[in-house]
Order: sequence, then structure tokens, then C-alpha cells
Amino acid sequence: MTMLDTDAAADAARILADLEAAHGVDADLRRRVEAHLPRLHGLFRSLYGDRPDALEQLAAVVAEAAASWRSRPIELRARDRQREEEPDWFESERMLGGVCYVDRYAGTLAGIREQIPYFRELGLTYLHLMPLFECPKGNSDGGYAVSSYRSVDPALGSMEDLTALAAELRVAGISLVVDFIFNHTSDEHEWARKAIAGEPGYEDFYLIFPDRTMPDEYEKTTREIFPDDHPGSFVQLPDGRWIWATFHSFQWDLNYANPAVFRAMAGEMLFLANQGVEILRMDAVAFIWKRLGTPCESLPEAHLLLQAFNAVLRIGAPSVLFKSEAIVHPDEVIQYVSPDECQLSYNPLQMALTWESLATRDTGLLQQALDTRHALPEGTAWVNYVRSHDDIGWTFSDEDAADLGIDGFAHRRFLNAFYVKGLQGSFARGVAFQENLKTGDARVTGTTASLAGVEAGDRGGEDRVVLAHAIALSTGGIPLLYLGDEVGQLNDHGYLDDPSEAGDSRWVNRPRRPTALYDQRHDGSTVAGRLYARLTTLITTRKATPEFGGNALIPFHVPHASVIGYQRPAAGEPLKRVLVLANVGDEPAIVHADTLSGFERHAADAITGADIDLDDGILLGAHKFAWVRVSALW
Ligand code: GLC
Repeated sequence: MTMLDTDAAADAARILADLEAAHGVDADLRRRVEAHLPRLHGLFRSLYGDRPDALEQLAAVVAEAAASWRSRPIELRARDRQREEEPDWFESERMLGGVCYVDRYAGTLAGIREQIPYFRELGLTYLHLMPLFECPKGNSDGGYAVSSYRSVDPALGSMEDLTALAAELRVAGISLVVDFIFNHTSDEHEWARKAIAGEPGYEDFYLIFPDRTMPDEYEKTTREIFPDDHPGSFVQLPDGRWIWATFHSFQWDLNYANPAVFRAMAGEMLFLANQGVEILRMDAVAFIWKRLGTPCESLPEAHLLLQAFNAVLRIGAPSVLFKSEAIVHPDEVIQYVSPDECQLSYNPLQMALTWESLATRDTGLLQQALDTRHALPEGTAWVNYVRSHDDIGWTFSDEDAADLGIDGFAHRRFLNAFYVKGLQGSFARGVAFQENLKTGDARVTGTTASLAGVEAGDRGGEDRVVLAHAIALSTGGIPLLYLGDEVGQLNDHGYLDDPSEAGDSRWVNRPRRPTALYDQRHDGSTVAGRLYARLTTLITTRKATPEFGGNALIPFHVPHASVIGYQRPAAGEPLKRVLVLANVGDEPAIVHADTLSGFERHAADAITGADIDLDDGILLGAHKFAWVRVSALW
């Protein structure tokens, strides 16, 4: 075996020559290998430089990317070209995401196909189907324990069905998004079975230790993620050895310090890309690299690994994008976002602080986040959401909170009490998730309507649902709806009757498709009908408002604690803006004319088109918001 050459160009030339000799290399592929192989080589040097097999593994990865390109279907190559010509496509104001579980929302992949007319009615351009791969029976963490990346869970359909669905969605203008669960596999994955059996080539695929010595050392600095399932980061195998399992005991973390693992996973990724998946949701990115004496979260190598996967795609399936799922401290979230790493990222800070502001009726932290943490590198976008299939963790920075005189620890306690314990004055019906009695940490689950007050019959409930979405729809990037929330679905406690779900309260916010509510969606006398009408009006307005594309955002401070403000400037016409004002308070708030003195007097409601004279100020009812077209004077 040969080590990587310090001269990247020399290795790259050799690898390319080998590819030429074996299969020939078309001009497109050559251009991309030449552009991205040196970067991939550098990343391999940093990650695997001391490994004797690094060059061999790198060459194998590139050969696999080249083979994948050769077999890439013609319509996907066409998509590659189209995206290359319009690289900022995902920043458009026309983007709208939806997310659902295949089984819960539609039974099977065929059922999802039947929903395409509805997805078009709603205006989706992006559909995230929750994990749909083969997984263990019973508890599989909602499919986040994958037993094979190349087969669909037979209860949902087949890989052919997925490929056909991707094609149909593409024709309907909807990009298919699936999870790439690459931090761990299920304990039933072929690699896992081979690893514990000690099969040559697989012994180092996972992190297995003969006794507690190393696990004890690691656990001095790691965090417990699912303490309800098992303490610490390891679980014991039947033979007495210990294996790394950050999440559930049946989700075993892969050992990315072994380049063979990278190579194997890159192969699975390229396979999915060729089925027509356009965006991969990179699951649990913070955990993919471990080093003794550290929290084993968001280590520098985690970024290098993601960049290496990114470079592989640029060679083999160039239009496919990554969305980072880093639900961690905001300083860390942002580090995953770059065109060379993850072009898209969930925005957990904005999500959590939207709920925080609704509870406190104070927009201070949310305003601060928009002012100081919203900016992104060019060529990237936030995915802004009101809630996901997971819990809400209070991920704001304690330093940011301290700047506003807020004690982070006490504030999180308050928020948990507000959302799950029905603290006095609370409109929420949330459920606690993974309450850690040792650290006092807890997170919150619940559907949007249940958390916002609809379930409790609070008079502001419907307005809060709309308000929270009005923020996600207007701050830029891709807004993402949890399907069913647009008709006000409530918590579903049925999970308590199912032993495979009863231990995981996140199931409370993953109801089945609320068919009865959908049937009421055009009936304005129902909650579902009112929410649907209001939300679809916002969606239509967003799509007709180019200012809502991209990520540019100019803060706008209103001297009223319950009102958040920001401006979205038009590209190329920075004085033309949409001003967003939202009142999380229980009382009306007036934004006075002098606060609006930086704008021409004549403005217009971006939703209704009605004229507004800013000399009159803007009155915001309780839990109401305004999208106003304004012209700034400077
Ligand atoms: C992500 C998923 C979550 C899952 C975890 C482990 O955080 O969103 O549902 O439990 O990864 O795969």
C-alpha cells in the first residue's frame, strides 16, 4: 500500500490516468475530477494522512464516483446541468418545503404519489420523506436505525417505487429530500453483523472495546443524548464487549477514523443520488468524529468529513445538496454551513426562539438572533421551520442571553415548565422529552397547534400558529412545513399504547395524516379551514414576493418588547423592502409613525395590496403581524 503523496497533483494525475485506462473519462467528468479531486485529496490527507491505505481508499472512492456518473440517468444529468446554470435555485422565494412520514401520512410510497396533487395545491417545491429504508422491526427510532441504504422498508414499497416517485415529483416541480443517516447504522446492518463477528475488513467499522476502560475515559467528556434509553454513550454487547451508541442501543456509531467506512458510505450516498434524491438531510452531523478528552461533538474532523462527502458528490452527482442537521449551540450550527460543506442547514435557533418569544411575550432574544446570527455565507440557505418531528431544545447561547440580562439555565427551566407543565398563564400542551434528572435538562414535544394554544382552546391559539409560520415564511431560505400543521393537527397520545413507541414522547407530535381536518380545509367555519386559508394566503404571498428570497435581512427595532421587526430588501434595489412586524404579545401594539420615519409615507400591505399611510402608524393586534411593502429613504 502507498501513502498519499504530499504532491496532490501527482496523486490526482495518477488516479485520473487509471480511470482513463479502465473506462475512459468524458469531458464533463474530467472537468469535475480536475476541479474537485485536489480538494478531496487534501481532506484525505488531513483525515487519513497517517494511514497506509489512504491512497488506495481515495482512488476507490473516486472510481466509485466515476462509475456512478457513468450510470447516472440522463434526466438526472439534465438536472445537474440545470442546477449548474442556476446555482442559487434553492434561494428562490418560490421554495416551500414539506416533511412527513411515509407510513403516517400516506401508508406507502404509492400513497405519497397520490398526494402529489395536494402537494401542488399547497405549493411545495421540496418534499422531505422521513426515513424509509429497511430498519429493525419494532423500535427503529422512526427509521433512524438503517439496516440497508439500498432497500426501502418493504412495508412502504421498493427502491423502484422510490425512484419512480422521485421522477414524478421532479416533473411536478418538487425536489425529493431523504435522510442520509450516516453517523450510525442499525445493529442489524450487514456491516454491524460482520463487525461483531470479527470478519476481516469490518472489525474497525464501529467502535468496539473489550471492557469499560476506554468507554469510561470517553464518557468523562461526552454528553448523554438519550438518557431514557441508556446512560452514557456506550452499550454492552451480549459477549460483554462495549460498543459506541450515541442514540439508542440499537444505533451503532460508525468509525470514520477508518477510511474504509468513508468509502463504503460514499458508495451508499452515490447510490441514493442516482435514484433521483436531490437533497440529503445529513443526520446527526455533530457526532461523526470522536476524540478522547473532547465532547466528541462538532470536532474539526466532522467538518472535513462532510467536505469530503461533498467533494465526492461534486464529482459523481453534482446537483445533489446537503442539509445539515446540527441541533447544537448556534456557534456550532453555523460552522456546518458553506457551499463546500452543507449548502443548507436547519435553523434551530430561530425555531426555538420563536417559541421562546411566544411564551415570554418578549422578542428580545429572537430579535438579537435575527440581528446577529442570521447572516450566512453566499450560496447557502437556512431551512426555517416552526417545528420538526423531533423535540424543541432550547439551543440559544447563554452568552447571548446574559447580554440581555437573562440567565440561560433558569430560562430553560421556565420554558420547559411553560410548555410541558402548564405553568400558570401557559397556553401550551407540550410533553417532556428526555428529561435528564442529573442535569435538569429537558426538551419539549408537541404539534404546532397543541403548543400554540389551539388544543387548550386559548383565544390566541390560531393566531400564534399563523404568526409562527409568518416568521418562518419571511426570514429567507427554505420554509419547511410539518405536513398536517397547516390544518391544525393536535398531539396524538396514541403512542403510549404501542410498546415500541411508548418510551419516546416525540411520537406525540408525529400524528397520522389528519384526514378529517384536511376534509375541512375549505370550510372557513372550522379551525382547519381558517388556518389553511390564512397559511395558504401567506404562502401565495411569499411566492409573489421576491424580497423573501435569499437571506438578506436588515434589522428593524421597534420600541415595544413584544414586537419583532426586520426588513427584507429587494435584490438590486436595496431601498425597496418588505418590512415584517410581528406582535407576540396578548395586547395590541402600535408601531408609531416616528418609528417608521425612515420610510416614504406611502406603503402597501404585501398580502392584501391595500394602501397604508405610515403617518397613521401600524396597529398590530394581539399575536398579529404585518408584511408591509415600504421604500426606505436611505
Ligand atoms: C436526528 C433525528 C432524530 C434521531 C437522531 C438519531 O436527530 O432527527 O429523530 O433520533 O437523529 O438518528
